[in-house]
Amino acid sequence: MNSLGKKIGRALVLSGALATVVLAYSSTGSVPSEEAPFPRDFLWGVANSAFQVEGNPGDSDWSRFTRRPGAIRDGTNADVATDFWNRYEEDFALANKIGLNAFRISIAWERIAPRDGEWDAGALAHYRKIISAMRKYGLEPIVTLQHFALPGWLVDEGGLLSPRFAEVFAEYARYVIPALSEGSEGVRIWLTMNEPELMAFLGYNVGVWPPALAKSRRGSEALLALARGHVAAVRAVRSLVPPETKFGIAKNWMVFTPIRRNGIDSLAANIVNRYGNLAFLDALLTGQANFRFLDGDTYRGRLNIPKGFRALDFIGLNYYTRNQVGIVPRPPFYASRFGPGMKSDLGWEIYPEGIESAIRQAHAKFKLPILISENGIADADDSRRAEFVKDHLQKLRKLNSERIPLLGYLHWSLTDNFEWADGLTPRFGLVGIDYATGARFPRPSYRAYGDEVVRERAKSRER
Ligand code: GCO
Repeated sequence: MNSLGKKIGRALVLSGALATVVLAYSSTGSVPSEEAPFPRDFLWGVANSAFQVEGNPGDSDWSRFTRRPGAIRDGTNADVATDFWNRYEEDFALANKIGLNAFRISIAWERIAPRDGEWDAGALAHYRKIISAMRKYGLEPIVTLQHFALPGWLVDEGGLLSPRFAEVFAEYARYVIPALSEGSEGVRIWLTMNEPELMAFLGYNVGVWPPALAKSRRGSEALLALARGHVAAVRAVRSLVPPETKFGIAKNWMVFTPIRRNGIDSLAANIVNRYGNLAFLDALLTGQANFRFLDGDTYRGRLNIPKGFRALDFIGLNYYTRNQVGIVPRPPFYASRFGPGMKSDLGWEIYPEGIESAIRQAHAKFKLPILISENGIADADDSRRAEFVKDHLQKLRKLNSERIPLLGYLHWSLTDNFEWADGLTPRFGLVGIDYATGARFPRPSYRAYGDEVVRERAKSRER
């Protein structure tokens, strides 16, 4: 559907625990007077995902969804996208040229396993080539195993609700991860999945993403499957990869503040934060799942996590915007809206303060290193992007100076790409795409991000 779908999703996605931003603020140390350089190995990069850029997609829920009349707001599809599958080297050269040292991609499960139980060795070999090319351009590969799209055969048996989901996801992990982690050039940083709550919420509650089951009351079941899938996948591969290999997920993180400064709206913001931002990570780290969606669908129970098992080595945090939430006197008694600040082309508020409060809260609660796995803006005329990047990086500098462990910053995205139910219209790229020819045209913000990175990396070297 539309920005509304995503908007609602971003606004309402629910997941579990009650730590307030205020608490998180007060729990960190004092602010040093001088700014510390970022660590030398800080990852400066960009992020994309297979379905959004590769083109010529295999059979998946998303390739089917784009064929459904009215499903994609502007009627476009991802059949060609940016043709990253063939043009990846161009993109790595562009990233390298402005001094980046990291690049996040994802693997298309439907390419690797086009049919149940069948593996496509050619597709795997192609990803190995992509990863070697990254290394050649001095880019640390960061790879997401599953970024929203699910293979058609799995969808036919229920997708996330298939009783086999965790098992087949672990098999997929076992086929891909050890192979792509092999050798000194292999991948060392893995994200098993991307924005699990958003996937469950938009698919099973709002119904604007596949499988388009609005108010199905099965969102928490879908989310549980993803949590179990993550655990099963990491368990399956941990001993098969070099010990320094790190596993995380990319977690959607929207900042929620109260519409009115009163107790009831603050409580609403806390609850939405708890279910939208904390619950999934909490489940992975404590084994205790407590999921809730707006249609009242809930799940409380234990995940089967063996003693001593480490589910996450770091948290990937995707931060874009904030929502103001509150209680209203009419059904559904809950309101949410983007904050009052300047907006992106999709109407999302530009709110750099949010990246700071999100990181503070995630750090205070989970005590794990944090990778900003996505942060960006739909900005077709590129009038706000350079400033957006600068302001968000300024917050990271401050947190880094306070020694909050940050692994890197990945901008979404190097190039324009297929923005799910919003189609090809939103322009998230530092580099524009002419979809008629596939030509890449760097926008001014491309240079601006590069300048920031070059400056920061020079400071790190002097350190
Ligand atoms: C998501 C995904 C990306 C989006 C990006 C911009 O958050 O939905 O991780 O695939 O394209 O976030 O909306």
